[in-house]
Amino acid sequence: MYSVKEPDGGTPLRISTRRVTLEIDGTRVTVPAGTSVMRAATDAGVRVPRLCATDTLEAFGSCRLCLVEIEGRRGFPASCTTPVEAGMKVRTQSDRLAQLRRGSMELYISDHPLDCLTCPANGNCELQEMAGVVGLREVRYGYSGENHFALAKDESNPYFSFDPTKCIACSRCVRACEDIQGTFALTLEGRGFASKIAPGAGSFLASECVSCGACVQACPTATLMEKSIVDHGQPDHAVVTTCAYCGVGCSFRAELKGSEVVRMVPDKNGQANHGHSCVKGRFAWGYATHPDRVKKPMIRASIDDPWREVSWEEALGYAASQIRRIQAQYGKGAVGAITSSRCSNEETYLVQKLVRAGFGNNNVDTCARVCHSPTGYGLKATLGESAGTQNFDSIDHSDVVVVIGANPTDAHPVFASHMKQRLRAGAQLIVIDPRSIDLVRSPHIAAAHLLQLAPGTNVALINAFTHVIVTEGLHKEDYVRARCEPAEYEKWKAFICQPRNSPEAMQETTGVPAEQVRAAARLYASAGNAAIYYGLGVTEHSQGSTMVIAIANLAMVTGNLGRPGVGVNPLRGQNNVQGSCDMGSFPHELPGYRHVSDPAVRAMFQAVWGVAIEPEPGLRIPNMFDAAIDGSFRALYVQGEDIAQSDPDTQHVTKALRAMECIIVQDLFINETAKFAHVFLPGSSFLEKDGTFTNAERRISRVRKVMPPLAGMADWEVTVALANTLGYPMHYEHPSQIMDEIASLTPTFTGVSYEKLDRLGSIQWPCNDRAPDGTPVMHVDEFVRGKGRFLVTEYVATSERTSRAYPLLLTTGRILSQYNVGAQTRRTQNVVWHGEDRIDIHPHDAEQRGIVDRDWVAVRSRAGETTLRARITDRMQPGVVYTTFHHPESGANVVTTENSDWATNCPEYKVTAVQLAKVAAPSEWQRRFDEFTKEQHDLLPGT
Ligand code: SF4
Ligand code: SF4
Ligand code: SF4
Ligand code: FES
Repeated sequence: MYSVKEPDGGTPLRISTRRVTLEIDGTRVTVPAGTSVMRAATDAGVRVPRLCATDTLEAFGSCRLCLVEIEGRRGFPASCTTPVEAGMKVRTQSDRLAQLRRGSMELYISDHPLDCLTCPANGNCELQEMAGVVGLREVRYGYSGENHFALAKDESNPYFSFDPTKCIACSRCVRACEDIQGTFALTLEGRGFASKIAPGAGSFLASECVSCGACVQACPTATLMEKSIVDHGQPDHAVVTTCAYCGVGCSFRAELKGSEVVRMVPDKNGQANHGHSCVKGRFAWGYATHPDRVKKPMIRASIDDPWREVSWEEALGYAASQIRRIQAQYGKGAVGAITSSRCSNEETYLVQKLVRAGFGNNNVDTCARVCHSPTGYGLKATLGESAGTQNFDSIDHSDVVVVIGANPTDAHPVFASHMKQRLRAGAQLIVIDPRSIDLVRSPHIAAAHLLQLAPGTNVALINAFTHVIVTEGLHKEDYVRARCEPAEYEKWKAFICQPRNSPEAMQETTGVPAEQVRAAARLYASAGNAAIYYGLGVTEHSQGSTMVIAIANLAMVTGNLGRPGVGVNPLRGQNNVQGSCDMGSFPHELPGYRHVSDPAVRAMFQAVWGVAIEPEPGLRIPNMFDAAIDGSFRALYVQGEDIAQSDPDTQHVTKALRAMECIIVQDLFINETAKFAHVFLPGSSFLEKDGTFTNAERRISRVRKVMPPLAGMADWEVTVALANTLGYPMHYEHPSQIMDEIASLTPTFTGVSYEKLDRLGSIQWPCNDRAPDGTPVMHVDEFVRGKGRFLVTEYVATSERTSRAYPLLLTTGRILSQYNVGAQTRRTQNVVWHGEDRIDIHPHDAEQRGIVDRDWVAVRSRAGETTLRARITDRMQPGVVYTTFHHPESGANVVTTENSDWATNCPEYKVTAVQLAKVAAPSEWQRRFDEFTKEQHDLLPGT
């Protein structure tokens, strides 16, 4: 539990080895050089009055409230903009200062509505507080002069309001939007009395604003205010927890009034986000108490039967009896489970333990199968560890940033803001993507190179890129000789230098002019520090693993590994996708990525779990589907995952689901998979449980219970109860005990405990005797596997080709306001920004087909057909179309195919050959989907 108000040092913390000693109100204080007098005063225990300063923003010096006297200096300098000097003697209080401060406050208050008692910020308003601090008792100018009281409120944003009558023109919001968020949506127009804050395009909703909330957080008055606070009042306490959306893993203070969450405020001490947030974590938490939440367990014998609400005991008893019956009838391997990258490490660990120890097989897989499994394979094979190499702060040291197949401003927004800060400070940007993503050109940022390649040609492009570096001698031979396996390096070098890998030879394949590739490669290789960030545009291909290996090869050959500012950084999609992989969710690996066939590893787990573990890897998700259709796989426990919507080739997935005899879904809502389920176990949101998530930088952060589970049990408790009902005993009183077990069995986690997490705030694994406080940057002196291993990355074109019947390539992705299958974000006001999935088409392709903006368009592939509304945009290159998959009725995965990565089976979501045609009616699949949705809705209790 934490108090609501966070301390504010007034100006940002400075880091310097040079220390400066000065005197403030007679107290000696020593601070880093570059510190402001205001911050030094805070360190000396003196709070100088202020309005325009806050420690998240550089000082601006406009309000004149923080004036001080400095011995030997004329006038009254502003303490926020005055840096400390050795021997300075500062006075923060005197009659003259008090008089000046009161004068400034009088001016503010004379143009401020005097409705403090009914104002939503009452008790948490810096203007109100400062009026008290400076001892304002009267306003000599009266309240009848010129004022701003007639200005209209802007209520256009669904989450916050803007009341210009309360604005004091301190520009904190403008600076937050520019310096922290990097969107530049606000301006301070006019001068003096006429100055006012204006969002571009007239209103917040119509402006460039991305609703990150930074301005709201920075505003010292009620001008920018969360509507949740207007509706419910100010919070009385706060709990620090971790966002449950994306892999950035932002730390938040969940602020509560009584037992009700009234606001989520990004935590200034958050080591992944440093006090910043995006629209999802900051505002889109209302799904947690949405009326659609299922709060009672339910069972049914067939998916054509009505659901029956039952007790937890009956639901678990029925689930356990079905699992045992099916195993008795079809064999031990006829059942399995899918863990969730949205659930905690502890919950995921328990599900894989239940499968291995309770089901007695290794049929466990996770949704990372369909996103970052190639990352695990590729990085492990080359570097020896299947995770990203850096911390986010590493980017502060990068000179060149390469973004490949990722769209950080939409999918990893808080890290994107951090990246943009570095790019505005001078780092150069190379983007490799079929689309021109937002980062390519945004305020004060222009990518040095956009290599707009054809979907499916990543490996051809990266080979050409690396060919330039090695053939032009721009690589770091000394680094490679010292740190990598020589024989494999020579073999790889001979391969990469072959003329067939040159940009000129690959130009026709990739569609990228050779000179562009050469220029970008030279820039990357000549940087002091060059870092690669990549996303699902790398992994979700038939050569996803090859591409990850090629990226690691590139980083090794240029010496860009093992220090801040460099590295290979997968941007993980879901909040705990890193953790779910770490926890042994894959069918071939026990926690810590140790193969189930290793007898020593099995022996360690067997000793603690008390049962024998099968040495044979189990089924991957696609194999489970195939086996279900064949009849050999009959029951599935799915925790927090919606495979019917998220997995490719929907018709194949639903056929498999229909074929099974017992599907147990544990989730917050009746999702698409639950429509095929026989047992529904209500899930708990991140606000309802304790645990940990691990973000894209291997950072383990605490999730803390903010309110009791709505259905009475947290997810980890449900798995424990299911195991016990099945006859495999599990006893844990608290998730910390689960983490203790994980730590005792996993070498990279041996130093992790809840006590240490509470003490340090978060920990990046490996955390053990060699690195007791964790590991921000990996592979520093040597690679985890010892010597780095180059592997040949032959380009093999995907079998998914365009043809006369399917002349366009469809690629898929996500957008800022929605998250994955949208189950959470669709149940928030985020639908204002994205109420439907659209198909993005280049104007040329649209014109050829007579399609105009907003037309209904049939999207046909070899796998199926769906209908989406068109958006015509020149962000696309001709021949390439794009859509998102946030709305189930869109059926984006009806058209994606079963093609997958050769090493990991990660689906090839990013390349599907399609044809488009203007239509008037939904597709046949959509018609059946609507019917089935209605039937299933009618089978729910109370309908
Ligand atoms: S919410 Fe964020 S993007 Fe929008 S105006 Fe405020 S700071 Fe800028
Ligand atoms: S809206 Fe708030 S932060 Fe922005 S200038 Fe006005 S008072 Fe300051
Ligand atoms: S960037 Fe990701 S983790 Fe951070 S608030 Fe947004 S969704 Fe949550
Ligand atoms: S706080 Fe220093 S001038 Fe406003």
